[in-house]
Amino acid sequence: MADIRELIQKVSLAKNKLELQNLKTQFLGKNSQINQEFKKLGSLNEDERKVKATSLNNEKQKISEAINIRLKELEKLEINEKLQKDKVDVTLPARERPNGKIHPVSQVIDEISSIFSEIGFSVEEGPDVESEYNNFTALNTPEDHPARDMHDTFYLDKNKKILLRTHTSPVQIRTMLSGNPPFKIIVPGRTYRCDSDQTHSPMFHQLEGLHIDKNITMGHLKGCLDYFIKEFFEVKKIRMRFRPSHFPFTEPSAEVDIGYKLENGRIIVGEGDKWLEVLGCGMVHPNVLKNAKINTKIFQGFAFGMGIDRLAMLKYGINDLRSFFETDYRWLNYFGFDPLDVPTNYRGLSR
Ligand code: DAH
Repeated sequence: MADIRELIQKVSLAKNKLELQNLKTQFLGKNSQINQEFKKLGSLNEDERKVKATSLNNEKQKISEAINIRLKELEKLEINEKLQKDKVDVTLPARERPNGKIHPVSQVIDEISSIFSEIGFSVEEGPDVESEYNNFTALNTPEDHPARDMHDTFYLDKNKKILLRTHTSPVQIRTMLSGNPPFKIIVPGRTYRCDSDQTHSPMFHQLEGLHIDKNITMGHLKGCLDYFIKEFFEVKKIRMRFRPSHFPFTEPSAEVDIGYKLENGRIIVGEGDKWLEVLGCGMVHPNVLKNAKINTKIFQGFAFGMGIDRLAMLKYGINDLRSFFETDYRWLNYFGFDPLDVPTNYRGLSR
């Protein structure tokens, strides 16, 4: 008979449940040595049988106990191993953060849309490729008008009938021709002029505004722009002045300047004694309304236009317009916005 301590040691070293099961069969099963010994008991006399039987039972019990102990140990190891593998890091974000950033121009368009939607404006769009008629003639800018030269137009055909729109104002005409007043719209979009330096890009962005209804006055225009500028720059007070100006499509026309000061080379909007031009505006010229089939005896209104890129530069301290269009990922990473943080008037526009 093998040494019982040797058997017990083998059991205690079993690496897994299968190995343990095999040892159990080997040590206690039908063909085990101990079973053979039991079978031989019948050939012994009574006294010898009693002694041998007791010792065999003892051994059997000791081996069984060792097997049970090892089984419990192996089960515990198995559970721990499983827990280790299944470990969940509850501090990980539920969804992976998106990698990209929102371009400052897109962010500012979202901010502006959110601000104007609060006071009932809806967003309209128009095509980049426009007719010469919508871009100029319908807007009270006939062929020989000097304002045409100032626009450095990209014409797309020999006859100069098709062009890349030089401003978002033609969408005024498109909107008014496609429905009945009242109209209360803003139009963000791309515009094109043959010009390029630190503050001009051949493609840039404008925002047009148009409000046509009964009894609309310049007072409404002032109130609307005062609200917009304060909301946009997220300030409570703003200094603003309306300077008489000229646009063919408005009468009277004005340019709007806002007060600012310089602090460590940064522009602080709202305070200070310096003036910065931010937009053009006025009461829509009756000729424009007539071209758009609006009854000028009943309806009138105001319009305004501003450069979105310039507003973005001012608000976010970006000093070269060209950097907007260089598609430099490092720049976008620095100046861009979190795609999940959509600007709203309630939660804050740029926070
Ligand atoms: N379209 C003008 C420009 O590009 C801007 C502008 C001025 C638009 C006055 C308007 C307005 O609607 O009323 O310079």
